[in-house]
Amino acid sequence: MSDAPEAPMRPRDPAASVRPAMPAQGGLTSGRLLIILAPVLALVVATGVMAAAGWMFGWYRHEMLFAAVGAGGAVVAVTIVLLYGQAMQQRASRLALQNAEERMSGIVESAMDPIVTVDEHQRILVFNSAAEQVFRWPRAAVIGERLDKLLPARFRDVHHSHVERFGQTGTTSRRMGAQSVLVALRANGEEFPIEASISQHGEGGRKLFTVILRDITERLRAESLLERGEARLRGILDSAMDAIITVDDDQRVVLFNAAAEEMFGCTRSEAMGAPLSWFIPERFRAEHAAHVRGFGQGSIASRRMGALRIVTGLRRNGEEFPIDASISQLLGRDGKFFTVILRDVSERVQAEQALRRSKDELHELASAAHRAREQEKSRIARELHDELGQSLTALQMDVAWCRERIPAQDGMAMRLARMESLLETTVAATRRISSDLRPLMLDDLGLRPALEWLVESFTQHTGVRCDLSVASEELELPELQATAVFRAVQESLTNIAKHARATRVDVNIEQENSTLAIRVRDDGIGFSPEDSRKPNSFGLLGLRERAALLGGEASVTSAPGRGTEIEVRFPLPEEVH
Ligand SMILES: Nc1ncnc2c1ncn2[C@@H]1O[C@H](COP(=O)(O)OP(=O)(O)OP(=O)(O)O)[C@@H](O)[C@H]1O
Ligand SMILES: [Mg+2]
Repeated sequence: MSDAPEAPMRPRDPAASVRPAMPAQGGLTSGRLLIILAPVLALVVATGVMAAAGWMFGWYRHEMLFAAVGAGGAVVAVTIVLLYGQAMQQRASRLALQNAEERMSGIVESAMDPIVTVDEHQRILVFNSAAEQVFRWPRAAVIGERLDKLLPARFRDVHHSHVERFGQTGTTSRRMGAQSVLVALRANGEEFPIEASISQHGEGGRKLFTVILRDITERLRAESLLERGEARLRGILDSAMDAIITVDDDQRVVLFNAAAEEMFGCTRSEAMGAPLSWFIPERFRAEHAAHVRGFGQGSIASRRMGALRIVTGLRRNGEEFPIDASISQLLGRDGKFFTVILRDVSERVQAEQALRRSKDELHELASAAHRAREQEKSRIARELHDELGQSLTALQMDVAWCRERIPAQDGMAMRLARMESLLETTVAATRRISSDLRPLMLDDLGLRPALEWLVESFTQHTGVRCDLSVASEELELPELQATAVFRAVQESLTNIAKHARATRVDVNIEQENSTLAIRVRDDGIGFSPEDSRKPNSFGLLGLRERAALLGGEASVTSAPGRGTEIEVRFPLPEEVH
């Protein structure tokens, strides 16, 4: 076998070499000649006998002779015509047969698959060019050889009995090796897997078997690569922490990884082929199916599902749980596939809920503390104003009464005068402390006049022009909100007095639907809001906290040299708007 050349050698006439060796076609056989000539001979003999009898016995001697010659001539002419016709017909059918054979040989020769024909002794009669390439034998080296040359030794006996059995059946063709992979042998001794079909037919009294085969080395390699790739993919999918489910166009499960098994409490074998709706609570099924369909019609390859809400999953035991999901689509050979990657976010949702609850509680606690502080401040302010203030005023009046009744030169009078002035400063201090604790005029006069007083005293102290504009005439707000407005304006004006070096200030209070907006704008030196957080600066921070307590927010817009605008917004309670 090692003597086989690498490249197959082509015979000069391929058609001739793939044609099986056939018995010679007999031209005009003696049998046929006898059939044609027998009646003619009989007629000639009968005419001759009649002519001889007439000659011998003298019956119409001349007539008989002429008749016999005429009949014989006619018979000879008819015979020549018949023989000529027969010869032409035979030539035409020989040509037709030859053409058919050539066509057949051409087809066999140009076939992409190897074709090998053997006789009943398994001797190779036909070996086409594809067979030469696959087996790497030149045709000349195998024609007339036994088929064994193309089979590994261990399969030869099996193959012989297989072909024999096939020869005994009436079947004309069938696939070989349906249950197992067939193996063939190349000239260089290399074995390779094949796929083959066999057919049988009789020719010239002989039984011939034709095998059409295909080298499937590449296909098997690709299949095993594919299998290995699939196994690798399966491993990756199963080691993923997230559940991965792929469904086909009908939303039936075609892939279900280990995490999905655990998440939904359902084995892979149960899930495969099941509708996706198994894993979705009844009330969401229609919406979800429409969502996937809608996604399938779009051109986006992947996206997060339920970006605005948590999607809900359903375990096989009926338990519902929140999931975070993303979906992607792929147009495969067998239609569209959707893959969803799911994460059980029960714990996250619980933590979020707990955080929200604790934030709400904290918020409530802070606002209760704030309310309590304001109430306490208010009580102390009133005590200072009403109790201490009244008593000091009474003392002041008494001291004044005493001083009037004591001669001016008396040392006592001087003491009383000092007491009087001390009392005056004490009353002023009490008033200031009381009003810092709680702007009493808010309670006494209402928000708007209190703001007007604030703005006026700002201008008096700083000499800076300040305009107050309040959108509604009657600014009637609940105590908490009224204090917030007052304090916001107070802090903003104090900051302007302390830091801004402004020449003009606008205080604006507007009600926009159910929101109250307080804006205090100055044309001072401004600052970078990023620098506003100084170690001992609490004014703006307090402003923000107060706004947040009321469900609102405070913002500072400022830049060096461009002035400052403080805006505080908070929603008004329902009874106000
Ligand atoms: N209208 C303004 N113009 C210029 N700078 C300002 C203005 N308002 C605030 N700032 C700057 O922002 C900083 C922070 O202000 P904030 O009111 O928080 O603190 P403070 O006024 O310094 O101290 P506190 O208010 O606690 O007595 C100020 O120190 C100042 O530099
Ligand atoms: Mg301040």
